[in-house]
Amino acid sequence: MRVTLEVNGRPVEVEAPPRMTLADCLRQRLGLTGTHLGCEHGVCGACTVIVNGDAVRSCLMLAVQADGAKVVTVEGLSRDDELTPLQAAFRKHHALQCGFCTPGMITTLHALLTDEPLAEEERIRDVLSGNLCRCTGYIPIIEAALEARTAYQARSGGGR
Ligand code: FES
Ligand code: FES
Repeated sequence: MRVTLEVNGRPVEVEAPPRMTLADCLRQRLGLTGTHLGCEHGVCGACTVIVNGDAVRSCLMLAVQADGAKVVTVEGLSRDDELTPLQAAFRKHHALQCGFCTPGMITTLHALLTDEPLAEEERIRDVLSGNLCRCTGYIPIIEAALEARTAYQARSGGGR
């Protein structure tokens, strides 16, 4: 089936079988391998991308369901090879080790902090509870998210 969508700001058209997941479509058809596949059952969060502003598990969404949608993957968050404030905060706080979970953590937090730049630690922990990390532990990730909030607040004009 022909699927037309916008990925990281660019219009794309891909041929996807009806049962192909959005994750496989992004990775195999578009070469966007920053979207990782862990469990492929909606449990680990590694495959999280942003679809029309919402964090979505791309292993649970079919590519055809994304027809007409705006999709942002981890590759689409930074411009000109510069780290985003959230990515820089991850680096500063050593919030990753193997990095397998990191794209899903970053996309999940980006969606959250874009919508809720004043999110408190408890809210961040709650949202991140759906993203599993096997090596870093969550404290540095939470610290990075808390630090990055300032940039999202500035972007939203002081938060809501
Ligand atoms: S690979 Fe999609 S939630 Fe684990
Ligand atoms: S950094 Fe290795 S799984 Fe999270």
